[in-house]
Amino acid sequence: MDRLQKVMSNCGVASRRASEQLILEGRVRVNGVVIRELGTKVDPDKDIILVDGNRLEMQPKHYYLFNKPKGVITTSSDEQGRTTVMDYFKKEKDRIYAVGRLDQNTEGLLLMTNDGELANILMHPSKMVDKTYEVKIKGHIPNTVLQALADGVELDDGMTAPADVYYNGFDQHTGQTTLEITIHEGRNRQVRRMFEHFGYQVYNLRRIQYAFLTLSGVKRGAYRRLTKEEVTALYEYK
Ligand code: URA
Repeated sequence: MDRLQKVMSNCGVASRRASEQLILEGRVRVNGVVIRELGTKVDPDKDIILVDGNRLEMQPKHYYLFNKPKGVITTSSDEQGRTTVMDYFKKEKDRIYAVGRLDQNTEGLLLMTNDGELANILMHPSKMVDKTYEVKIKGHIPNTVLQALADGVELDDGMTAPADVYYNGFDQHTGQTTLEITIHEGRNRQVRRMFEHFGYQVYNLRRIQYAFLTLSGVKRGAYRRLTKEEVTALYEYK
């Protein structure tokens, strides 16, 4: 049994908040009775739920691992007509959305789904999903800074949690250092701000791992479906 508004949003009717509004407006019937109570529990497999007289259909769930290119915006629509992640999913007919977001200039692994329940679980701050980024910066970076990044950095919105930082090498040719950093939080522009705190401009930022998922076999701008096992493992992650 689940709360009515949760079942509605999981079916893709509307967001949780908008579903609550539909209930309050008396537009939802369960087994023939208008329900206005927000906490009402329903069984999506047995109860007959009508929204404005239309039967709620259980939408099949879709899960995609997308390799977002740089310059693409993580939003469902952009008023300025810029390229969004949705432009890459035009041939998929069900409405999907991103689990969290990557900055316009960040590339890499982004999960896309219509499973609101899983998205909520993964984005909940207590979940602390590991996210690994490959970071390219100009010049050398001393060990003391690497250690400080790992220990925690005081940003405007507070101290960052401990992170794992790996030095991947310095390229004489480009003059760039490559690092990998694994963070467990998902604050706005977090990785860029952590490096900016020490005066380093991030030249390239790419998310290479999310939980146990990697970009392996997925080219820039392409996506693949998650396997059933991967979806189950995400539900059970940590
Ligand atoms: N950290 C950033 O700075 N940008 C992202 O897109 C993700 C993490």
